[in-house]
Amino acid sequence: MRTLDRMLKDQIWIPNEGPQTEAYFSRADLLLYGGQAGGGKTDLIVGLALNAHKRVGIFRQQVGELKGLIDRMDQVLLQAGRKPVSRSANQWTGADGAKIEFGHLEKSGAHKSWQGRDHDLKCFDEASQIAPHKILYVMSWLRSAIPGQHCRTVLASNPPMGGEGDYLLEWFGPWVDPMHRLYGTVKPGELLWAVFESEGEDIRTIWCDGPEPQMINGRLRTPRSRSFIPAGLGNNPFLGEDYRAQLDSMPEPLRTALLTGDFLAGRSDHARQVIPADWIVAAQARWLGARHRHGESHWRRRRMLSLGVDVAQGGADSTTLAPLMEGNVFGTITRAKGVDTRDGPAVGGMVVQMMRDSCAVAVDMTGGWGGGARLHLENNHIPVTGMVASQGSNAVTRDSRIGFANRRAEWWWRFREALDPKSGDGVALPPGARLAAELAAPRWKLLGRKILIESKDDIRARLGRSTDEADAVIMAWAARFEADTRALGHGSGPELEAEPYTDPHDYL
Ligand SMILES: Nc1ncnc2c1ncn2[C@@H]1O[C@H](COP(=O)(O)OP(=O)(O)OP(=O)(O)O)[C@@H](O)[C@H]1O
Ligand SMILES: [Mg+2]
Repeated sequence: MRTLDRMLKDQIWIPNEGPQTEAYFSRADLLLYGGQAGGGKTDLIVGLALNAHKRVGIFRQQVGELKGLIDRMDQVLLQAGRKPVSRSANQWTGADGAKIEFGHLEKSGAHKSWQGRDHDLKCFDEASQIAPHKILYVMSWLRSAIPGQHCRTVLASNPPMGGEGDYLLEWFGPWVDPMHRLYGTVKPGELLWAVFESEGEDIRTIWCDGPEPQMINGRLRTPRSRSFIPAGLGNNPFLGEDYRAQLDSMPEPLRTALLTGDFLAGRSDHARQVIPADWIVAAQARWLGARHRHGESHWRRRRMLSLGVDVAQGGADSTTLAPLMEGNVFGTITRAKGVDTRDGPAVGGMVVQMMRDSCAVAVDMTGGWGGGARLHLENNHIPVTGMVASQGSNAVTRDSRIGFANRRAEWWWRFREALDPKSGDGVALPPGARLAAELAAPRWKLLGRKILIESKDDIRARLGRSTDEADAVIMAWAARFEADTRALGHGSGPELEAEPYTDPHDYL
């Protein structure tokens, strides 16, 4: 007998091995279990409610959606020879006094009727459809008079499909949002500690170092634990390949969201987002296509035109290098922690190691951070293209006669134009959720009659992280013609190990 089966010997529902079991035993006060469709999310709620808790509230957005959930609960109850859910009262009472209530939250004010209703388990199925303030309101009465009873909230959800559910990206950012400063540092199921804090109309998460009470904005607050466990279709033996095929036949972005469980797949673009997310996905797909056809090092066989260098501006940032190769193909991006690249020679060393074919070296000189690197490179006879984002620009957009407020706006807009599926340059970008998220981050606005792009500092303030990879890519793109002139014989350096120019369409 499996240990698990032994532990749950007298229980009427047994979790599937893998993430469903991990979610079942999670100690997180607030757990998001979700991702792929069919990963057993609704069943986890049914099982937890029947096995492990005494007073349970289960919520969905609409009253009609509760039927399937109650049907499934009745099925489990029937198999165990127990009485079914009362459909008239929308609740179930067990022989030992356990009680499960079902609620829906769509109507305005519906959440208010759950005021003061204590539960030791509160579950929100398809949570991405439910407004966050309603969930938080209902969650206020998560408590139990029974000593030792574990009180928890479980959110079960597929990735949000735009709009309402975007709050999940904020609440569980360290696990699901590649732009989050803690992304990549936590494992699925690991506990982090946090409090919710109101900020104007918004509710924001403040991540804490541990469970100890601490002063936050002048008040002593007690953090609660949070975690995320990705539900996986592959771990559910009750659904076969048929169901995967069914999901595969869905239109995008539904297909990617349900099949991969990627929490960003269904996110809708901001109205003034500089580069549409779809264009970035297509550029990364071109790169993966090339790798599939020509192998892992496909980009290394091309001539390097330029190297974009984003110099770290502080402890948390990274110095980031993005190589652009002939044929509009970017190479993989190299990063080094800011602490390791504090001085010019360290950054210069990275550049020398990476650069080839006497490519243009485009160094961000905006904040003066790149000065040391430039000096070091020029002392070593490597010409540097200093990139100053705040400088004025005389350029105009390709399709209209709108100008740019500064160089930064020009570079970013030029890259948008290059990715445009209709009139673009078939750019191929290396895979990576971080690069994709960073390129999708900046927003534009009109300043007078010119385009202005959100500054690096503003993005950092909004998202808590900077866009190092994207900026390195943008600079490499902006500087690519510098290399072309030198390739015609104006530059120094070794003879090019030339590969004949390859049309980007070869890579489609
Ligand atoms: N531990 C389990 N024991 C028995 N059956 C299970 C278990 N987990 C999942 N199933 C079955 O697998 C199927 C899919 O599970 P479920 O409906 O919970 O998935 P879901 O993640 O909620 O899917 P959706 O994204 O469609 O809402 C259901 O028929 C369910 O009864
Ligand atoms: Mg479900």
